Amino acid sequence: MGLRSAKPSAREETDWRTALPLRPLRRGSRSAEIPFDWNDPTTWEPALVGVEAAYIVYTPDLAVPAAPPAIREFTELAARSGVRRLVLLSGRGEEEAQRCERIVQDSGLAWTIVRSSWFSQNFSEGAFHDLVVGGEVALPAGDVAEPFIDVDDIADVVVAALTGEGHSGQVYEVTGPRLLTFADAVAEIAEASGRGVRYVQITHEAFAAGLAEAGIRADYVELLKYLFTIVLDGRNAHVTDAVERVLGRAPRDFREYAREVAAIGVWHGAVQGA
Ligand SMILES: NC(=O)c1ccc[n+]([C@@H]2O[C@H](COP(=O)([O-])OP(=O)(O)OC[C@H]3O[C@@H](n4cnc5c(N)ncnc54)[C@H](OP(=O)(O)O)[C@@H]3O)[C@@H](O)[C@H]2O)c1
Repeated sequence: MGLRSAKPSAREETDWRTALPLRPLRRGSRSAEIPFDWNDPTTWEPALVGVEAAYIVYTPDLAVPAAPPAIREFTELAARSGVRRLVLLSGRGEEEAQRCERIVQDSGLAWTIVRSSWFSQNFSEGAFHDLVVGGEVALPAGDVAEPFIDVDDIADVVVAALTGEGHSGQVYEVTGPRLLTFADAVAEIAEASGRGVRYVQITHEAFAAGLAEAGIRADYVELLKYLFTIVLDGRNAHVTDAVERVLGRAPRDFREYAREVAAIGVWHGAVQGA
């Protein structure tokens, strides 16, 4: 969760890139200065003091059964705490997540839903990083194409929705500019990094067994199975112009992301040679 505090700083500072006033911001997660934990509702109220707009990122995913009651309790508390605007990060093509979207839409507060495609950064900061470094991205993704999106583009859309006008009541389905299969994405990473990493297609059963063997919790294994079967069935295999409509510029291509990430050495340690 990210939060925007209502209290302006004594000395108004500006962003050197945009010359717009900087807004006071409070990070909301377990490691934040004021810790916020979705699994511990007693941490929610302190994090909301003085906040006027909140960005809700539920962990692990809005599609899990624990999400709707948590989102309901959180939005009710936010309204009582004086929050006026909510932006919810949701998953594109996840019908289960839409129960949570409706709770936010019915909260009585100004709302914006940002429904996102799969993040490009899954390969560098998330679940697939270690697979890339190991040289073999073995997943049951098949040849379904996905418009991977750069999380910096999501962040820019969210900041616009939190701070700008004209975004209330909008559902933005944000995607990257191009469809790639997982094999295409891994080939882009191999090209950008000059390292021998390849995509390997495995069955859903082998995938689930591997996760269980690695000690991944059963409910998380279920979530990953859901994401790789129901969500990755081709329903999201088209791009949208939402990023361009909100920001007035195109979203960043996966190739640019891969080049930038390769250059900072995130995939160092990956198998040498193509
Ligand atoms: N990954 C994708 O491709 C994708 C696509 C569409 C939508 N989404 C949505 O994006 C969200 C984040 O996904 P992700 O893949 O970025 O997950 P992630 O990498 O696991 O995100 C972890 C983040 O959540 C915080 N966090 C973890 N447990 C928490 C808890 N109990 N309470 C509060 N904060 C907690 C962590 O910070 P601390 O360790 O400091 O708590 C960390 O900042 C989910 O709602 C997911 O559905 C993801």
